[in-house]
Amino acid sequence: MMKKIKNKLSEIHILLFLKLIPYMLREYWTFSKQMARCQMSHYPEKLLTDILMTTHALEKAFSLHNLKKGFGVAKSIQLTDNIEKYISKYGYSSKLEVPISLITAYLSYQKKVKFSNKELDYVQNKINKIIESIKQPETNFNKAGKLSLSKNFMQNLTNANFKTLAENRYSIRHFGDGNISEDTIQAAIKIAQKSPSACNRQAYRIHIFSGEQKDLILSTQGGANSFYKEANKAILITGDLNRYYSTEMHLPYVDASLFSMSLIYALTSLGVASIPLTMGRKLSVLKKVQGMEIPQNEIPVLLIAIGSYPDEIVVSKSARFSPDTFTTFH
Ligand SMILES: Cc1cc2nc3c(=O)[nH]c(=O)nc-3n(C[C@H](O)[C@H](O)[C@H](O)COP(=O)(O)O)c2cc1C
Repeated sequence: MMKKIKNKLSEIHILLFLKLIPYMLREYWTFSKQMARCQMSHYPEKLLTDILMTTHALEKAFSLHNLKKGFGVAKSIQLTDNIEKYISKYGYSSKLEVPISLITAYLSYQKKVKFSNKELDYVQNKINKIIESIKQPETNFNKAGKLSLSKNFMQNLTNANFKTLAENRYSIRHFGDGNISEDTIQAAIKIAQKSPSACNRQAYRIHIFSGEQKDLILSTQGGANSFYKEANKAILITGDLNRYYSTEMHLPYVDASLFSMSLIYALTSLGVASIPLTMGRKLSVLKKVQGMEIPQNEIPVLLIAIGSYPDEIVVSKSARFSPDTFTTFH
């Protein structure tokens, strides 16, 4: 009898909400304290976040084909000032190799397209002084900028071993005008389906958009503004909340993310160009996306823009840190 009552109570919405409050409070308290913005200027890793974000914003521009001459001057000043600030406060770190490389690549690009002004002179002088003062080999600073890939190679990765596939997957921000057929997408989904999921619940859901709906969802997402029209389709991966219990609030994100990564590799192996795009948690975006015939029980996790490879594939190098900077063997 008692068990029956307990079971009935455990199904009541308001009681479940109350049960979640301590979890949510703990999570929001921890996050607000540990997130990058909280006392950013007092922690090296948090200042590094700002440096990496600006580095990425500038580097990603290199993979766009409609790059404007003189782009990113304000960002290059901000980045150089922050690199200087970091070194003067905490000393040099190998984690600055890519940001410094990026400034070097950025200045070379501006020189090549014959763009100059006082601000760029400021950046050039400052970065020269930084490089002189840290006394590192010059080869440490060629780790950013753009790379050209062979279209033929990228279209024929089907038989590549996993290492080759993983090392040659890049986010593509410029697509050709070929169509990606439903059959190809179905084939990729079948491969990705072998991803693990908590208790094999397979709670990821997939929505494929093309035409105007593709443009709408990609433009709403906001991180693909300069290339979303070129994408052939958009794939939204959501997590089905109906499949989870009260202590599993984040599992839909874990399951859907594992599936998403497999899907990106599967697409790459089938010769399809792709780029993952964050769904973040901006309420206005989530609401608009959820309004696109997405059932209320599904939460958006990731958007992937896909298309064919263009004739000239240019990507950002997006170098990775050395594993020893983020790995601990206990
Ligand atoms: C969750 C997530 C969200 C992303 N959002 C965007 C985005 O909004 N716009 C964009 O151009 N790239 C986006 N990217 C692509 C990353 O910039 C890219 O994966 C990263 O720079 C590494 O480069 P790579 O994928 O070429 O190795 C996103 C990637 C992930 C995993």
